[in-house]
Amino acid sequence: MKGIILAGGNGTRLKPLTKATSKQLLPIYDKPLIFYPLSTLMELGIRDIAIIVKSSEKEKFFLLLGDGKRFGINITYLIQDNPNGLAEAFIIGEEFIGKSNVTLILGDNIFYGEALKQSLSSKFSEGANILCYKVNDPERYGVAKISGSKVVEIVEKPKEFVSDYAVTGIYVYDNSVIAKSKSLLPSARGELEITDLNNLYIEEGNLRGIFLDSEMIWMDTGTFNSLHDASSLIKALQSRTGHLIGSPELVSYKNNWIKKNELSEALNLEITYDASVLSSLD
Ligand code: G1P
Repeated sequence: MKGIILAGGNGTRLKPLTKATSKQLLPIYDKPLIFYPLSTLMELGIRDIAIIVKSSEKEKFFLLLGDGKRFGINITYLIQDNPNGLAEAFIIGEEFIGKSNVTLILGDNIFYGEALKQSLSSKFSEGANILCYKVNDPERYGVAKISGSKVVEIVEKPKEFVSDYAVTGIYVYDNSVIAKSKSLLPSARGELEITDLNNLYIEEGNLRGIFLDSEMIWMDTGTFNSLHDASSLIKALQSRTGHLIGSPELVSYKNNWIKKNELSEALNLEITYDASVLSSLD
């Protein structure tokens, strides 16, 4: 399984915050936003990760994450300069994906909770796995139309009520995703839509919708309010539980990819976490 983080885009809804930098480099409390989706892929055991960025931003991402060695992973940087849609990730990433399966995570999505790991990785063999999450503002997302316990269609930003289940920004696909993405036509807004891609898998009878309960937390950070809420929530959860959330160093250590001395070196050199969180590492 390979991983792709999509971190291109113009962050239009967050201007002026995103005028001089990428949305995925903005702070979520004590870490840059991209640390959270990166940690999520690593929690799923994925070590070969491509990050898709705008060419003007590549250097900044590299400065932050490098080639990934200090997290025990390999990071490849790929370029998307025009907003041609989320599904373009698999065309840009064709060579990187090779013959593997691939998990895509959107660079502005934050997941927290154990359920993700169990539900996503254990049930995948072929086709597509998507995660659905009950929200009170489904019109902002791709929304799953459900019959029984099956997802029968996904509607992007529905104007009329479809269901409460938003499709979250993490998707697991088999290798046919490359050919399927190439067969897509641009939507009315000129993009290769991830929703059209998922509907192709549904037509084949090969998409599994996994429903997350409210023990899992899913946040996207595309608006000022959601960005602010995410920071507040991470701060509250970390102080309350004493666990670091979204730390690639810590995930790497827990996965036995780096040693303890490398972990403390990485944390001390790169980031200053508060003492109570650091002491919880023992
Ligand atoms: C995108 C997808 C949408 C999905 C959402 C998750 O929307 O198009 O289907 O539900 O991500 O964050 P966007 O955030 O680009 O509006």
